[in-house]
Amino acid sequence: MKRSRAILGLALILCIATATAHSEYYSKTKSAVHMKEKVTHLHFFLHDILSGKNPSAVMVARPNRTDDKSPTPFGSLFAIDDPLRTGPEPTSEVIGNAQGLYLSSNQDINQFTIVLYADFAFTTGKFKGSSFGVFSRNPVVEPNREVAVVGGRGKFRLARGFAKVTTAYFNGTNGDAILDYKVTLFHY
Ligand SMILES: *[C@@H]1O[C@H](CO)[C@@H](O)[C@H](O)[C@H]1NC(C)=O
Ligand SMILES: *[C@@H]1O[C@H](CO)[C@@H](O)[C@H](O)[C@H]1NC(C)=O
Repeated sequence: MKRSRAILGLALILCIATATAHSEYYSKTKSAVHMKEKVTHLHFFLHDILSGKNPSAVMVARPNRTDDKSPTPFGSLFAIDDPLRTGPEPTSEVIGNAQGLYLSSNQDINQFTIVLYADFAFTTGKFKGSSFGVFSRNPVVEPNREVAVVGGRGKFRLARGFAKVTTAYFNGTNGDAILDYKVTLFHY
């Protein structure tokens, strides 16, 4: 009897101790060596269309300057919902979309550069419902450029990597662009 009470008491103390540990806002830090990193390559075309009745990129703010006549003047901010397609043709299959913002960030119009803050999500295939995030400078006038992938969701959880970007089509008059994205993603 005495012994069983002692055990009960001990169990109670242990319970309270555990409860106290659980009430902390942090867990014990453990090694994550068992997590296996994978690599996936993606290839698609981003269609960034400013012209026409249904543009996929719209200017949401711009500085009050009338001297800059470009479709993307320095300081202008665009919201995008750009389709990701399997090819450069406007009729090729849509496999996802890039949603977010880009800012025209270079004062020199000849060095047209954007900073891109966008989430690239897939709506079909193995990666349907998964997305990765780009937060990067994109020097648009350079023929071969690279943007940084800084995170991801779903199958791309904890993604990091980069995308090699080239211009498949660009119209400097209306700003329409079709961009070839070759992405390398490290994720879990
Ligand atoms: C835009 O700039 C012009 C010329 O500097 C000025 O007259 C006008 O008030 C400005 N408009 C706004 C909305 O700030
Ligand atoms: C570029 O856009 C302008 C204005 O919309 C249009 O008139 C012109 O035909 C376009 N050029 C090409 C090569 O598509």
